[in-house]
Amino acid sequence: MSMKIGILTGGGDCPGLNAVIRGVVKSATGRGWEVVGIEDGFDGFLHPEKCRNLGLEEVRGILPLGGTILGTSNRGNPFSFPMVREGKVELVDVSDEVCSRIEHLGLSALIVVGGDGSLKIAQEMMRRGVPIVGVPKTIDNDLLETDVTFGYNTALETATEALDKLHSTAESHHRVMVLEVMGRYAGWIALESGIAGGADVILIPEIPYDIDKVSEAILARGRRGRRFSVVVVAEGAFPKGGGRVVKEAAGGKSVVERLGGVGEAFSRELGGVLEMDIRVTVLGHLQRGGSPSTFDRCIGSRFGVKAVELIESGAFGHMVCLKGRHITSVPIEDAVRSLNLIDPAGEMVRHAEALGIMLGR
Ligand code: F6P
Repeated sequence: MSMKIGILTGGGDCPGLNAVIRGVVKSATGRGWEVVGIEDGFDGFLHPEKCRNLGLEEVRGILPLGGTILGTSNRGNPFSFPMVREGKVELVDVSDEVCSRIEHLGLSALIVVGGDGSLKIAQEMMRRGVPIVGVPKTIDNDLLETDVTFGYNTALETATEALDKLHSTAESHHRVMVLEVMGRYAGWIALESGIAGGADVILIPEIPYDIDKVSEAILARGRRGRRFSVVVVAEGAFPKGGGRVVKEAAGGKSVVERLGGVGEAFSRELGGVLEMDIRVTVLGHLQRGGSPSTFDRCIGSRFGVKAVELIESGAFGHMVCLKGRHITSVPIEDAVRSLNLIDPAGEMVRHAEALGIMLGR
């Protein structure tokens, strides 16, 4: 049966989005289906000119490109959409408009490529009768029910490369080099890049850190002749008895709370108890940019193909996922019921500690 399906990318971008879009277009057009790309997440439905046909020509050459050819937005919740009325920003429910645009476009299914936030919106839209299939995207790797999200691997490569570079300058100057990485409330990027990059200290949100113990670990390295240390700190990390460093509270320009600044806060704290030169690097959005890694290109492409297969079999409300070496699917509600966080007593933390890495406790 010939079908017309839509695809949108929502939330923060990440490497591999274009691989997914290309995978969807190739496998859908291979079935004789039509694909409509919605620009800038759910916002695109509110602007007819932002809904455009995607064929093989439109996806040619995009596999190695970072970002998303469709654009994205993390302010586009149709149930709470920011509209300027009489000079003031009001949050308005525009979901009816989105549903009628979907009907008007003649879409028989919609693929939502997004993280926790976009997939929760997708669930709401499902309840409004829109047949949706999800694809798990985020550098944070904080979605449940998939071994990994696409985009995460490329972000890890970027963070590991940064650590390699910080090592040599740390050693030359006998300094403590602090690298602040992203990840929101999950410490995956910090922990895995820290292990791969040979960090001496890794601070993650799942283990509130004790500044005295961190300082003692750095001093102990000095006594062994290692006069420098490399610290990776996840943006969501915080000291025992303290709180996260928030750059911008939710509800202002940003729909969700924006984290950032823990690197500086930690370095001030450490400077208070340790007589060493400390420098901070904030890796920031470099982690979200650039060409996707081989892994993300491959998994992104396969996720795209699988999303089309799910539509064909009528498995709406499902999200594609990776389990072992297989691409399969799970109900979206299982993936977003809570965040995929690191188990402080789990294997990866134990292995990091066995490698002599200090986890702040
Ligand atoms: O969720 C992905 C992510 O990059 C987080 O790691 C980070 O906290 C956030 O998005 C940054 O968002 P923004 O693009 O709004 O600065």
